Amino acid sequence: MLAAGIEVKSGILESECAKLLAPYLCHIRERRPLVTAKWAMTLDGRIASATGDSKWITSDSTRKWTRERRGDHNAILVGIGTVESDDPQLTARTPGVSDPLRIVLDPGGRISADRRLLNDGAPVMLVILEGQSVPSGLPESVEVLSIPGNPVENGKSVIDLKHLLLKLGERNIQSLLVEGGAVTIGHFFDTSCVDRCQVLIAPKVIGGALAPGPIAGRGLDLMTFAIEALDPKWSEFGPDRVLEASLTLIGRGRLSR
Ligand SMILES: NC(=O)c1ccc[n+]([C@@H]2O[C@H](COP(=O)([O-])OP(=O)(O)OC[C@H]3O[C@@H](n4cnc5c(N)ncnc54)[C@H](OP(=O)(O)O)[C@@H]3O)[C@@H](O)[C@H]2O)c1
Repeated sequence: MLAAGIEVKSGILESECAKLLAPYLCHIRERRPLVTAKWAMTLDGRIASATGDSKWITSDSTRKWTRERRGDHNAILVGIGTVESDDPQLTARTPGVSDPLRIVLDPGGRISADRRLLNDGAPVMLVILEGQSVPSGLPESVEVLSIPGNPVENGKSVIDLKHLLLKLGERNIQSLLVEGGAVTIGHFFDTSCVDRCQVLIAPKVIGGALAPGPIAGRGLDLMTFAIEALDPKWSEFGPDRVLEASLTLIGRGRLSR
């Protein structure tokens, strides 16, 4: 264009465009979806009480916004613990907003067929560990995907998340929202499988040594390894604050073990 004498302006709205294109570019370059980890927590960093109650941490307006944001993603994922404790629908429930594919990590295939998300007719993907039996009585809207395990301590295996992400990429899933709980998000962080975070902070305090924080797993040993939130954007919804940011996981020094 320049050579043809046409005036060319570049770099216009560069960072906005980069954000908009990030899932697409991640999919093209790495053949996997861009992963956003999302959690709602109290001022003291709890995502549920010690009894497992988490309804509700944030205000109505924040929850409305987060349901709408589900429509920004091709798929949404939770662990079986969240399905068992909260029986979530994981839908946008917002006119004009499409529902993402719902994915449940259920390595042992123990999901109960009466869960709400299995019975609304919309698609669900159940991810089990290779070699485990498919749970019985599942409706036709549920697809079961077997993924190989990665050995961890105590002779146990966990679902190989990198393998799962490539499988999702093969289905043209370009963006994945991981909505918890702590064990699931911990596995994503421990395997450097998180690109972005969406953190909802409510001005409430729960306390209690047994009340979970947002990220379980092994974590990092030293502050020097701490993952930084880049390009943070803060928003306000009623009394709550929301942080959206990119995370610098890949290629960083991780664990000293
Ligand atoms: N405030 C929030 O934003 C928020 C969001 C979601 C949930 N919650 C709360 O969090 C609590 C539930 O959280 P949770 O940590 O107990 O449960 P969870 O993360 O939803 O589910 C944990 C289970 O999922 C399976 N799993 C996850 N990742 C896996 C992997 N890579 N490989 C193999 N299995 C994997 C394991 O199943 P197995 O046990 O079969 O090994 C694991 O025990 C509830 O109290 C809920 O209310 C809060």
